[in-house]
Amino acid sequence: MRLERVAAQVPQGARLADIGSDHGYLPVALMRRGAIAAAVAGEVARTPFHAAERTVRDNGLDESITVRLANGLEAIEPNDGITAISLCGMGGETIRDILDSGKARLNGRERLILQPNGGEEPLRLWLMDNGYRILHEEVLRENRFDYEIIVAERGEAPAYSDRELYFGPLQMQARSPAFLDKWQRTLRRRQQTLSHFARARQSVPEEKTGEIERQARWIAELLA
Ligand SMILES: C[S@@+](CC[C@H](N)C(=O)[O-])C[C@H]1O[C@@H](n2cnc3c(N)ncnc32)[C@H](O)[C@@H]1O
Repeated sequence: MRLERVAAQVPQGARLADIGSDHGYLPVALMRRGAIAAAVAGEVARTPFHAAERTVRDNGLDESITVRLANGLEAIEPNDGITAISLCGMGGETIRDILDSGKARLNGRERLILQPNGGEEPLRLWLMDNGYRILHEEVLRENRFDYEIIVAERGEAPAYSDRELYFGPLQMQARSPAFLDKWQRTLRRRQQTLSHFARARQSVPEEKTGEIERQARWIAELLA
């Protein structure tokens, strides 16, 4: 379901670069449906790189999907004419670092389809600082995990507030059931952490407690 929801955000006829493709399931599924024109599957690690090569070969898609062993956006070459980039199933900080160190490979016209596992706040901050507008956001729950999808394109980037960066500007407005459930669970976890801190024998740095308190307050206000 997670990758299906990501797939739904890839524009019809896109030339997709799926970075950190693992088995290559996303580009292969999209190509089999005729939903994209071409794809690059980038992988930094050998075992998933070979797995992606195998998936592409087994599906007879070697002509339209190129699998490259490469770090981050180094998998993209100028002639690929990439129009959409997916980075899924990695921490938000890792996705941010891949985008930041690969900036020179971005032509500024690609749609970014991001599915961070945590670390959404620093990722949104990078998007804002680099002139990206968030077009779509969603939260979904699968196998007891909450996943977020963030879709962004270059263009007049609004100045998102601290809370919008933390919760997601569009999700704060839409307040979907999945979004509210996620934050209810997160609030319970933050409250448990604070009560552990209060009982801890060794003192917890004030800065750390203050940060968790701030998050718990913001979440409580969001849900109020
Ligand atoms: C957990 S898997 C997610 C696979 C798939 N994108 C998904 O969402 O199901 C993360 C993959 O990203 C790859 N990866 C991590 N850092 C990377 C980087 N800098 N460049 C390319 N691939 C990377 C890992 O080797 C791993 O195969």
